[in-house]
Amino acid sequence: MHLTELRIQNLRNIEDQRLELAAGLNVFVGPNGAGKTSFLEAAYVLSHGSSFRTHQSEHLQRRGTETLALYAQARTRSLTRRLGLLRRDGHWTARLDGEASARLVDLFAACAVVCFEPGSHALIAGAADGRRSFLDWGVFHVEHDFAAGMRRYRRALRQRNALLKQEASDEELAIWDEELSQAAEPLGRAREAYMERFGRELVPLLDDYLPELGGVSLRFRPGWNRDMPLGEVLKEVRQRDRALGHTTRGPHRADWGLVFANAPSHEQLSRGQEKLCAIACTLAQVSLYRSIRGENPVIAFDDLCSELDAAHQAVALAALTGSGAQILLTGTEIPSALLERFPAQRLFHVEQGKVRAVL
Ligand SMILES: Nc1ncnc2c1ncn2[C@@H]1O[C@H](COP(=O)(O)OP(=O)(O)O)[C@@H](O)[C@H]1O
Ligand SMILES: [Mg+2]
Repeated sequence: MHLTELRIQNLRNIEDQRLELAAGLNVFVGPNGAGKTSFLEAAYVLSHGSSFRTHQSEHLQRRGTETLALYAQARTRSLTRRLGLLRRDGHWTARLDGEASARLVDLFAACAVVCFEPGSHALIAGAADGRRSFLDWGVFHVEHDFAAGMRRYRRALRQRNALLKQEASDEELAIWDEELSQAAEPLGRAREAYMERFGRELVPLLDDYLPELGGVSLRFRPGWNRDMPLGEVLKEVRQRDRALGHTTRGPHRADWGLVFANAPSHEQLSRGQEKLCAIACTLAQVSLYRSIRGENPVIAFDDLCSELDAAHQAVALAALTGSGAQILLTGTEIPSALLERFPAQRLFHVEQGKVRAVL
C-alpha cells in the first residue's frame, strides 16, 4: 500500500498542511526543528495510534489547540481508502471512508507504516516491550484474530493481577488461570509462527550487513514454558505471584533477540552495529509483510544521514528502493551523490512546520 495524500492539522509545529506523495521515494529536507520528523510521525500514528517518539500523545498535539487531526488517502492494489484519526479531549477517534465511528483497530489494519529512526537501536538494546510491539505489529497484520485475542488476554491479566493484590482464594484465581491459559495459547502460536518466518527473512540480511559478527540466530521467548499449558505454569508460580502482586508468566513477558556467534550478548555490539541490526529487522519485516500480503507497507526513514556512514547510507537506500515500497525519507540535507543514484520522485522542503514541494 502507499499513501497518495496526507493532511495534518495541529501536530507539533504543523498547523495545517496537505501534501501529495509519490508511490516511490519521497524526501523531506530542512533545518533542525523544522518539522521533518513530524511529517513521518503523522503517517506512523495513523498506522499505530502512537508515535515512535513518545507514548504520551498529548506531546503530539500542537500546544494550545483543541483537535489534532490526521487524514490520508491510502491506495492498495485493489482499492483506495480514506483514513482519519482525530484526538480531542485526550481521546482518539477513527474515520474510515467517511464513517465517523470506525474502530481504531480497523483503521490500523488499513494503514501499514514501518519506521526506522534515531531511536530504533532500542529495538536491539532497549527494553522488551519495544520488541514485543514490533513483533505484535507484524503478527497483527497477518493474523486477523490477533488483536481480539490480545484484548481478551489483557482483560484476564488485569483481573488476575487485581485478585493477586486482593489476596483472593485459590479457587477464584484458578478461574482466571484457566481463562489466561486459553487466551494465551493462540497468541503464543501466532507469535512463534511469525518469528520463524521473520528469522528466515532476517538472517541473510544480517549475514550481509554484519559479516564480522559471525553466524546469527534469532531467539524467541514466549513468556512461559510452552511445554505446558499456561494454566499449569500459573498454578506452579501462584505463591510467588501472590508475593509479588502480579503475574510473572505469560505472553505479556515474551521477548526475542539476536545472538551472534562473535557477540553472544547484545552488550557486545557497537551503537552502529545495533542500528544496522535494527535496519535489517525493519527490512525483514517489510519483506515478510510483502510475501504474506502481496504488497508493501510504507517505510518511514528518519534522519538517514545522521544515522549511517556514507557506505551504509547507500546500502540502506538500495535495499529500501529495491523493495518497491513507498519511502518517506528525511535529512537536514541528503548528499547529492546519493540523490543522483536514488532519484527522489518528490522532494519537499520543510521550514517552520510548513512544507513546500520543490520536485
Ligand atoms: N506539542 C507541540 N506543540 C508545538 N510545537 C511543538 C510541539 N512538539 C514539538 N514542537 C516543535 O515542533 C518542531 C518539531 O520538529 P521535528 O519534527 O522534530 O523537526 P525536525 O525533524 O525537522 O528536526 C520543533 O520545532 C518542536 O519544538
Ligand atoms: Mg527530526
